[in-house]
Amino acid sequence: MPAKTIQDAPAVPAEAVTPLIRGVAVLWRLTEAGGTLSASGLEKATGLARSTVDRIASTLARMGYVRLDGRDVLLAPRVMELGNAYLAALGLPALLAAHADALADELDESVSLAVGDRDGIRFIHQATRRRAMSLSFRIGDLLPAERTAPGPLFATQWSDAEWQAWRARRAADPEDRGFPAVPPREHMSSDTAFERRAARAREDDWALDDQLIEPGLVAVSVPVRDPRAGGRIACVASVVSHTSRHTAADLRDTLLPRLRTAVAEMERELRGAPEPRREAAPAGLATWTGASKQELGREFVESLARGLTVLTAFGEGRAELTLTDVAQATGLSRATARRALITYGHLGLVRPSGARAFSLTPRVLSLGFPPLSRTSLARIATPHLAELADRVHESASLAVLTPSGEEIQYTARAATARVMSVDIAVGTRLPAYATSLGRVLLADLPAGERHLGGLSPLTPRTTTDPATLTAVLEDVRTRGYALVDEELEEGLRSVAVPVRDRGGRVVAAVNVAMHAARRSVEECVRDVLPELVETAGRVERDLRVAGRFARVAMS
Ligand code: PHB
Repeated sequence: MPAKTIQDAPAVPAEAVTPLIRGVAVLWRLTEAGGTLSASGLEKATGLARSTVDRIASTLARMGYVRLDGRDVLLAPRVMELGNAYLAALGLPALLAAHADALADELDESVSLAVGDRDGIRFIHQATRRRAMSLSFRIGDLLPAERTAPGPLFATQWSDAEWQAWRARRAADPEDRGFPAVPPREHMSSDTAFERRAARAREDDWALDDQLIEPGLVAVSVPVRDPRAGGRIACVASVVSHTSRHTAADLRDTLLPRLRTAVAEMERELRGAPEPRREAAPAGLATWTGASKQELGREFVESLARGLTVLTAFGEGRAELTLTDVAQATGLSRATARRALITYGHLGLVRPSGARAFSLTPRVLSLGFPPLSRTSLARIATPHLAELADRVHESASLAVLTPSGEEIQYTARAATARVMSVDIAVGTRLPAYATSLGRVLLADLPAGERHLGGLSPLTPRTTTDPATLTAVLEDVRTRGYALVDEELEEGLRSVAVPVRDRGGRVVAAVNVAMHAARRSVEECVRDVLPELVETAGRVERDLRVAGRFARVAMS
């Protein structure tokens, strides 16, 4: 319960960095609120002065961790780099997510991976089904151990002190208010009921959740043991269903055997995994903060920005870092890095690992990850399109290719206030061959997958000859943009560039469309294209962060 940690824990270490504690509190309150709070809402939720909230918000905005929209503060995709640092360091999603996804496909049920987080469980992967009725949790959500199927499995490894902490938490928080992801606990279950479930789990090596969270929700879980760590539970795999499809007993009888087979494969994967390739050691993660301080003055809390970069020093093959490692990666002095690590230790975000090293805890996922873990490309792109439309005073759009490959569909757009502006609603479909967006998307397809037959002229200028269009698409590919001049509609000119995913595949295109009288073709290329390229770059950067461990819907 992060909220309690701050308010109740009396012993804030003398060396802790207060602005860092406050900045983390702001991220926690935003996360619990689902991603958005007004500045005054934040003031109430954190108990901080308004001026402090404002300075923290502008610092987080400079880092790209939040966006300021009028009076609202909104979590922004870049904040996911904090959770990514934990998930990359952990290494399990990279090795096991594909197995979980394959099992979900095979069973047509949701499958999740969770780690133990003190007396709770926290999700590190979700392979969900597209169903109207599917309650499923998000990556980063924390659940009380006793109301889940993975909980009793993790409890088999608890020390006496951990059991005691669990009892104390239950007594202090009888309604599970410290777990905003679950509905309040309605009837008090006894402590012994969970102790019995844990004893059962030790014998069975699997566990059930028969509607402990909500009526209808059932789950069966099996531990994934890490042969590299003496068989300790690395994470727990669960199949989640609804009583309308499977009763709990049904899950055990029909799906448990297949879950166990999948877990055996996961364990083989862990056994055969090569040493994690160590990410190139970052350097100077915090060296940019001085210039921002110069520029923003009081509105930039440098100790907060510096402290947050400490978390991103961790990563793949960088699960355990010494103080020296952290100082090197961030460019901070050892004294500053040490104070940040002490602060994170106090907040439960970092723990000692061996004698001289530190590692991130699963709680790092509570810093903004869950609300953003189910985002879409359209949502990521919209604020960037709005900025672009503001700069060029023309409307800007994002589109994807429809499954047939013959049309594009608009998925996001930002309008401009002009009287005469291009007005195409989200959801609109247009023929791919005659639009700049479509040509950018077609240009990335292998020639054999392009549908270039039966092209009809939409204006006297429309390219309809397949050979000519093929040459045009090759040109688009080499230049990196498409410009379509009155081929879709007379008087309409537009320019588009691709948006690529982590793997370099073109997944969408962004464009600016305008009346032909406004700018010549040359002006379009000279003035609009660079802005468009810049915008696509920002969308791609956000997409890379958001899509590293979470699924980003493309439409
Ligand atoms: C889930 O993955 O959503 C899940 C897993 C185990 C539970 C409940 C929900 O007990």
